[in-house]
Amino acid sequence: MTDAAELDRILAAHAGREGSLLPILHDVQAAFGFVSEDAVRAIAESLNLSRAEVHGVVSFYHDFRTAPVDRPVVKLCRAESCQARGVEALAARLPANGPVKVETVYCLGLCSVGPNAMVGETVHARLDAAKLAALVGELA
Ligand code: FES
Repeated sequence: MTDAAELDRILAAHAGREGSLLPILHDVQAAFGFVSEDAVRAIAESLNLSRAEVHGVVSFYHDFRTAPVDRPVVKLCRAESCQARGVEALAARLPANGPVKVETVYCLGLCSVGPNAMVGETVHARLDAAKLAALVGELA
C-alpha cells in the first residue's frame, strides 16, 4: 500500500535534482518497504521517464522490492572473509521459513570483524551462534 501524500512528499523533496531516481527509490522503499506499481508510475511521471525505465532500475538492483516482505529481513554476508570466519555454519542454523527472511549479500565492508549481517541500516558484526540467535529473537 502506497500512501499518496507520502509519495508526493518524497517526489517533491527531490524535485529538480539531477540523478534523483535512485534516491527517490531508496526513500520510497524506506517509507513503504517496497516500490509499488503505483510508485513506479508516479516516479516515472515526476521524472519524465517511462515506467519501463523506472522498472528497469528497480529490477536491476535486487535491494529494491516490488512487494511487501512478510518477515523481518536479515542480510547475511556470505563473501570470502565471512565464509572464512564461519558464516556458512551460522547460515545453516537459520531455517528457510523461520521468523526472519534471510538474504545473501556479498560483503558489507567490515570483513575484518565478520561474520556480519545487516538488519535495516544496522550492521551486526562478529556474529556467533548466540548473537545470531539473539538477533533473530529480537526481530521475531
Ligand atoms: S566478506 Fe563479509 S563483510 Fe566483507
